Amino acid sequence: MNKPPLSIIILLSGNGSNLHAIIDAIKNKNLNAKIKAVISDNAKAFGLIRAKKANIATHVVEPTFYQTKTDFDQALVNIILPYQPKLIVLAGFMRILTPQFVNAFPNKIINIHPSLLPKYKGLNTYQRALDNKEKFHGTTVHLVNHDLDNGQIISQAKCKILPNDTVLTLKNRVQALEHQIYPEVIQLFAENMLLETVD
Ligand code: GRF
Repeated sequence: MNKPPLSIIILLSGNGSNLHAIIDAIKNKNLNAKIKAVISDNAKAFGLIRAKKANIATHVVEPTFYQTKTDFDQALVNIILPYQPKLIVLAGFMRILTPQFVNAFPNKIINIHPSLLPKYKGLNTYQRALDNKEKFHGTTVHLVNHDLDNGQIISQAKCKILPNDTVLTLKNRVQALEHQIYPEVIQLFAENMLLETVD
């Protein structure tokens, strides 16, 4: 690994198990990246505790503090810019970003979504897949553009839906896949394998 580590910023709203997987991958030298900061819209997100434990800078941006979504996103941009990240990683960030935010970091924002996109954009993907008696479910890492869960797909992983699956059992299996593929995709950016998207 001769290249300098890829500077990344992680945005999250909750548990942060994907953050944890990324921290572990860096520790284990499977991922050549440096998490410059973790930003959350939720002061109670467990992901913030994980970040602090790993000595990563944290920021909380409370949506209620801002009059409009644009103001909120501008506050995020203002926090992120000084870090000069090469990649912004959405890891369970439960807010739809405005075009202004996306335009501030063109082709530099990725998201992980718990479905085999283009199926099941939006929320409650596990329940919807179970209700529709799908044979498979999974997860997708994609670039973030102006449309919800609609940017270019970078990687997907799938698993079978088993007869007795509940939302929880299915979620556990899909998240195990996420913890594998998200660090792998970020490593592709670190290696400049996705040339058109990174300087
Ligand atoms: C992940 O399952 C991801 O697909 C979705 O939000 C969830 C976040 O989980 N976007 P965690 O906070 O990383 O545990």
